[in-house]
Amino acid sequence: SVLEMEVEQINKGKYEHYMQKEIHEQPESLTTTMRGRLIRGGSCKAKSVLLGGLKDHLRTIRRSRRIVFIGCGTSYNAALAARPILEELSGIPVTMEIASDLVDRQGPIYREDTIVFVSQSGETADTLQALEYALENGALCVGITNTVGSAIARHTHCGVHINAGCEIGVASTKAYTSQIVVMAILALAIGDDTISSQARREAIIDGLFDLPNKVKEVLKLDEEMKDLAQLLIAEQSLLVFGRGYNYATALEGALKVKEVSLMHSEGILAGEMKHGPLALVDETLPIVVIATRDACFSKQQSVIQQLHARKGRLIVMCSKGDAASVTVGGSCRVVEVPQVEDCLQPVINIVPLQLLAYHLTVLRGYNVDQPRNLAKSVTTQ
Ligand code: G6P
Repeated sequence: SVLEMEVEQINKGKYEHYMQKEIHEQPESLTTTMRGRLIRGGSCKAKSVLLGGLKDHLRTIRRSRRIVFIGCGTSYNAALAARPILEELSGIPVTMEIASDLVDRQGPIYREDTIVFVSQSGETADTLQALEYALENGALCVGITNTVGSAIARHTHCGVHINAGCEIGVASTKAYTSQIVVMAILALAIGDDTISSQARREAIIDGLFDLPNKVKEVLKLDEEMKDLAQLLIAEQSLLVFGRGYNYATALEGALKVKEVSLMHSEGILAGEMKHGPLALVDETLPIVVIATRDACFSKQQSVIQQLHARKGRLIVMCSKGDAASVTVGGSCRVVEVPQVEDCLQPVINIVPLQLLAYHLTVLRGYNVDQPRNLAKSVTTQ
């Protein structure tokens, strides 16, 4: 009806689509996600974090033999992005499960396990089924959702709400970045506050405080990503290479592109390049390589050189000021992003890829907010 259409326009504000609005509101959604959860430190008070919904369970989580992340789609990718920092700060092995695959295999789950269920809607059938299975096996079940009162929030033993605000676009954007931030805070909450980890912990907390500003900065790439989308509009396929903290960025960037722009796209772990993907490289196939500064940077530089040697058509994402260090050995398009603490870099790096997917979709003339065949929350199996 006319009324419904007007209400919708009011909800979208100055934006044309919900996905666009949700991408651009990430500085605010991240601020809301962190509200009340970071402690600034100061006179005799250490910088620290607070997760009210978990405080009675932290001791049990710290004593667990294993932490297992479970999710589907974007929520799985968010958990993958947070896995390295959780392993680093907790020292507990962290494994990943796609919800349906755990259920298919009836994989082993033990009483000494902490299982973390990540779901924007809190209603995804596959994730819920994995939750039932983990409960039957006696594990401690933690929920990370965006929906208060959802099935996953109700049936887990404890959890955290990401407070990203209602997300309407089928392709998840602001929920993804808020999920990563909550899981980074979770890593800080579980990890011991030892003297040797103090500097690292403080750097992450400072990085979290500054993250909304850095997201504002990376959103300025909007026009540049629109130009890139124009260039890629008629392609059949797009590969995205990442590793370490940004393996998840590669998977999630490719998922955004395929979900909304209906272009084939694959996220590839750069360390696996020689074990197959290299066969695809030629002068025509566009490849995004994520090579922002972290401990993997020199390895990514050599990946770029090897792709250049095979005349790959590269688009390299690097930290500000690094353009010259990533173009040695050939010419390519460069996207420079602000650098943040390594474990928070996935929050920054996904933004240009969200923008790229959005613009590709609009330019190709497809439905951005409701891509064909997909649903926001998949409540059937
Ligand atoms: C569907 C949606 C995706 C979402 C996935 C998991 O596939 O289209 O955007 O990432 O479900 O949803 P959840 O609500 O559990 O995060």
